Amino acid sequence: MCGIMGYIGKKDGYPIVIEGLKKLEYRGYDSAGVAIMNGSLSLYKKQGKVRELENYIHTQKTNGNIALGHTRWATHGEPNDTNAHPHLSETGRIALVHNGIIENYATLKSFLTSKGYTFKSDTDSEVLVQYIAWYQSTYSLDLNEAVRRALGDVEGTYAIVVLDTLKPNGVIVAKKDNPLVFGLNEGEFYIASDASPISNFTQEVIYLKDGTYAELFDNGTYEVYDLEKKSIDPELTTIQSSKDNYSLDGYDSYMLKEIHEQAQTLEANMEQRIDLEEGEIRIPEIDEHKRIFNSANKIILLGCGTSWHAALIGKYIIESLCDIPVEVDYASEFRYRNPIIRENDIVIPISQSGETADTLAALKLANEKGAFTYSLVNTVGSTIARNSDIVSYLKVGVEIGVASTKAFTAQVNLLTMMALKIARIKGTIELSKYKEIINCLDALPGLVEKTLECNKLVKIIAENYYKRDHALFLGRGLNFPVALEGALKLKEISYIHAEGYPAAEMKHGPIALIDEQMPVFVIATNRSIIQKLISNVQEIKSRKGEVIVLKEEGQEFPNDLASYAIEIPKTHELLSPVLASIPLQLFSYHAAKLRGCNVDQPRNLAKSVTVE
Ligand code: F6R
Repeated sequence: MCGIMGYIGKKDGYPIVIEGLKKLEYRGYDSAGVAIMNGSLSLYKKQGKVRELENYIHTQKTNGNIALGHTRWATHGEPNDTNAHPHLSETGRIALVHNGIIENYATLKSFLTSKGYTFKSDTDSEVLVQYIAWYQSTYSLDLNEAVRRALGDVEGTYAIVVLDTLKPNGVIVAKKDNPLVFGLNEGEFYIASDASPISNFTQEVIYLKDGTYAELFDNGTYEVYDLEKKSIDPELTTIQSSKDNYSLDGYDSYMLKEIHEQAQTLEANMEQRIDLEEGEIRIPEIDEHKRIFNSANKIILLGCGTSWHAALIGKYIIESLCDIPVEVDYASEFRYRNPIIRENDIVIPISQSGETADTLAALKLANEKGAFTYSLVNTVGSTIARNSDIVSYLKVGVEIGVASTKAFTAQVNLLTMMALKIARIKGTIELSKYKEIINCLDALPGLVEKTLECNKLVKIIAENYYKRDHALFLGRGLNFPVALEGALKLKEISYIHAEGYPAAEMKHGPIALIDEQMPVFVIATNRSIIQKLISNVQEIKSRKGEVIVLKEEGQEFPNDLASYAIEIPKTHELLSPVLASIPLQLFSYHAAKLRGCNVDQPRNLAKSVTVE
């Protein structure tokens, strides 16, 4: 969702901010804008992509040592030039970029309207900048004090950067429940929604804490405060210089590149975690808390969207190996009830971005209730990672395509390694089985490469079905979440309506949907219940449904039941979801391309969902 990038120092800020905004594009957005300070303020805003903003600014004056940039994902008010950020106060004195939602904006707006203020946009963010301006002019305050007092009245969430054009030697940054980080270099600051656009300039950063704000000056000095204006000592964090590769490497989209990267990303995910010589899984953060894992009563896995699907697969694997009951919850549901957390319960939030607002709020609730929290996250140093007792990283590098692919397979893989590790600690797995699965994990990247060879066939299948309005995905056991994930991928990037179901549930209602127009993907890699699954497919075939089956190489499956059969290499049954997901990712990619959709930035979606 919204991305913030800012620069204050001695250099020209505009090129830094534009490049930063491009690195934040993955978060998802529908308009972009920049404000540049050079004696006076220049403001440029455009609906559409950063590239379009750049073209628009092309012939304009862009020099200035303070620049604020923003990519907006619309919440209040449609995506257009006027609603794009930065927003100005009515007199044009104060400029602001904002990520988050001002929940009491309507109250503040009617208050300001009663004082004679008028508004150009439909956004809650413009209300905030006007409210700061009202404090400033009514009580003759400097920007620091006006922002502090305004934030004291605000309900909701925010990460903001604010600039006073009459005192153009500094900016105010503030944060509550939305990410904001600033990097310190000699005489300059880089401000952003995450560290990715900063790490090539400086490795020393401050992740602003909730309910705090900072004043950054163009001579390199700064001060951090709480909302009582008590000075606080911020924690300096050293980040790694980014090794992330933002190029397409010849692919037509990041999604396709990321699908094809999965052999390497799984290798990275397992690096230093699989010790083949000793036949052991090494996860030091679990080892350091062996007692907690050994005496765990219950594990609660939390996530949203694709990460929730990974959690469902995780439940299956953990319960089958560790003899610990596992609950899986949507983070957005967990946080709005009274989840029962008892001593010795472990809460595991799963998140690619590490910034998903609902997952973060659920994690905070689990922390408050005294749970031991262990997050599985991709983005290093993200808010979820920093708020957990321990964290294991996916290590797959930046995922740019909005549809999660390589992060999903790494989440499932990490959950498998985690389950093996816990099972070993608890003694709930036989050594021979433990070693067998470790060997299968080691072979998995090679099998991913082999699975990718199905691309040609999957494209043919997509050519056959991309004009259909609906699709069904069926699986049983640990392939039920694979079916859910296949359906989610298809709907989010191709806009074909799709549903995932446990195959045996069809006869309890959904089978009424089956006719000759309904393609039905059946994930049939479960050896243990294959006969039952075949019976479920018979029922669909008898009603003229068109079946596309995903099965293991050499696995028997009646030829007359399926219009197409996609074969995936044989592996341990617990690892098969990783391989089975790949043809489904490819199918949604091809279907979306054939329908002319933007696979990397599907409509209405954001990569990092930082509003609730
Ligand atoms: C779908 C997708 C989303 C995310 C969800 C959670 O392809 O990417 O459903 O999985 O928004 O995001 P994270 O994992 O960043 O918490």
